[in-house]
Amino acid sequence: MTLGILLNMKKTADQKLGKAKARIEKLRADLHSHNHRYYVLDDPEISDAEYDRLFRELEELEKRHPELITPDSPTQRVGASPLEKFASVPHRTPMLSLDNCFSREELEEFDRRARRLLNVGAELIYLAEPKFDGAAIELLYAGGRLITGSTRGDGFTGEDVTQNLKTVRSIPPVLFQFLETGKKLRTRGQTGKELAALLETLPKNLKIPERLEVRGEVIINREDFARLNKERDEAGEPPFANPRNAAAGSLRQLDSKVTAGRPLDFYAYGVGEMEGWELKNQGEVLAALFFFGFKINPHIARCRGAGEVLAYYENMARLREELPYEMDGIVAKVDDFGLQRRLGEKTRSPRWAIAFKFAPRQAITRVVDIVVQVGRTGTLTPVAFLEPVQVGGVEVSRASLHNQDEVDRKDIRIGDTVLIQRAGDVIPEVVEAIREKRTGKEKKFSVPKDCPVCGGPVTRIGEEVAYRCTNISCPAQIKERIFHFSSKDGMDIEGLGDKLAAQLVDKKLVKDFSDLYSLEEETLANLERMAEKSTQNLLTALEQSKSRGLERLLYGLGIRHVGEHLARVLAGAYPDIKKLESATAEDLQKIREVGPEVAQSIVNFFANPDNLKTLERLREAGVSFVAKSRPRSAELAGKTFVFTGGLATLSRDEAKRLVEERGGTASGSVSKNIDYVVAGEDPGSKLDQAKKLGLKIISEEEFKQLIKLDNK
Ligand code: IVH
Repeated sequence: MTLGILLNMKKTADQKLGKAKARIEKLRADLHSHNHRYYVLDDPEISDAEYDRLFRELEELEKRHPELITPDSPTQRVGASPLEKFASVPHRTPMLSLDNCFSREELEEFDRRARRLLNVGAELIYLAEPKFDGAAIELLYAGGRLITGSTRGDGFTGEDVTQNLKTVRSIPPVLFQFLETGKKLRTRGQTGKELAALLETLPKNLKIPERLEVRGEVIINREDFARLNKERDEAGEPPFANPRNAAAGSLRQLDSKVTAGRPLDFYAYGVGEMEGWELKNQGEVLAALFFFGFKINPHIARCRGAGEVLAYYENMARLREELPYEMDGIVAKVDDFGLQRRLGEKTRSPRWAIAFKFAPRQAITRVVDIVVQVGRTGTLTPVAFLEPVQVGGVEVSRASLHNQDEVDRKDIRIGDTVLIQRAGDVIPEVVEAIREKRTGKEKKFSVPKDCPVCGGPVTRIGEEVAYRCTNISCPAQIKERIFHFSSKDGMDIEGLGDKLAAQLVDKKLVKDFSDLYSLEEETLANLERMAEKSTQNLLTALEQSKSRGLERLLYGLGIRHVGEHLARVLAGAYPDIKKLESATAEDLQKIREVGPEVAQSIVNFFANPDNLKTLERLREAGVSFVAKSRPRSAELAGKTFVFTGGLATLSRDEAKRLVEERGGTASGSVSKNIDYVVAGEDPGSKLDQAKKLGLKIISEEEFKQLIKLDNK
């Protein structure tokens, strides 16, 4: 072959590639635009079949030219591999929260204060928006491309949930100038009047900013929420309490495929930084965000003074049930950025915005029965079973009555017609009985003398309001204890929920926490609703839970009065549990946060030989009793270690502590996300697994060098 022919061949290949590239780019742009029309404007221009055809053509081309795949391609929304944990993302500008108000007077007070601070006599212009009830997020775009998406977190640092946010269809992976003019849209009536007007005022030469932080709320529509919960129920999974929890929970999935299956939607309501946009007010920002592809709530309004904000609030309160998503109030923001700057911010909330909350949702229904539930510590809680009723779009069929005193005080009887209320949050409550509706057939309720689950004796201790079942082997208590042990703030055993805990106890497979760690694959796989995958996941989760550390273990043990915070305090004061076991009430009270009641409860716990046996068995099972002291350095931040085999100069606990003190993680199981496998004597199967995965394997000596132990 001559050089000429070779060059010619290369030229044709280049031309082909060039053509493919051009077609890919065109397809992507078209698909982005069709997505926008479908998911943001709710006004598709082509049929689903046509869309699918374009999508497949792009997939096909990308398969042939994988080097041309870019992360923002419409084909790349789903398919990232699962994460081990979320990285944290600092927010360059803090994500503030809002002060609340609940009445016209409070709103007027807010307005007066703002005007006084600004020293203006004239009415202020506010931009009023619905207050979504979902999960706040921030999206960072650089050069018009979505780079990072994060949760709000504590306002200063959030979690990196980019992979998950990419699966949300109404979040554009790239910013486009999606609209030529606002006019066209107004005639189609998709924007609402205010947004259409705002679009008209947008500077004509607005370009995509170099760096843009978009903020807004991920929500789930009510209808989608109901469907999601129905599916979960059928799959034997616990339902979400409300759309907000469902949205937040969906964003915190390590596997983005799970998130992709959730019906998430996104509305933008503001920006953090916006390099290159010289916009003067909130209205312009919303218009600009809409212009570049985000969903903006069409029910926004510019209001003059508190009076107009109030009228807007009343109007939205009326619309509330009609709108497809949850709203818990409205937000009024001083429109002008210059004035916003002059008003400034407090630590957690701005002085230029206020949330005006809606009244809680109430409904009338009937108490069909009052049933007693037995909690972890044996507390008997009366629960009202209700005739199912819709309260603000959520079906309610139970409400907590808290305790006998509450039942007596409110005089709530079985058969009563009652007013119930759902106050934005989770558990509905009975407000009052409607006496006029009584027929005389209602029955008074009192807590039974014997435990309804185990028949054990029920007593009321001292001044407490609660009645308790005193049989510590009561199956109801064991179930709750196991469930508590595995909870997020405890040992965080994913997959071990209330239903599974109940099965394990009922089948007598688990009598105390330590039994969890000897459950065998076969036993688990034979349980109801357990498939091969869920069994494997549970075994992995159990393994991982062993290294949560003393704080979480102490919390998980469910010692009365020892909550998450106190568990941490105790682990700090007694990093060696042996010392805690033998501490007297007097010793314990030397800790600032420990009072006599708490101290006694701790002493009682460790005085029980059964508890000590359980602890011993947990230790034998490999559960870590090492306190996770705050990292002293960040040397090993982000690095995960696995230890296998016997170490010559260090105990396992010590080795783990050394890693954790340096900001690293010690894991109990081998996976592809492990950075170092430290192999000691007789390493066993973990080493084989590690070799198979091609992980970095080091000796104890090398480990010590790595952490520079010898120089210390
Ligand atoms: S503005 C400084 N606008 O409410 C401005 N927030 O309590 C703070 N929220 O975390 C946010 N709808 O999750 C703003 N239209 C809206 C909102 C909104 C819902 C949420 C958001 C925020 C919380 C603040």
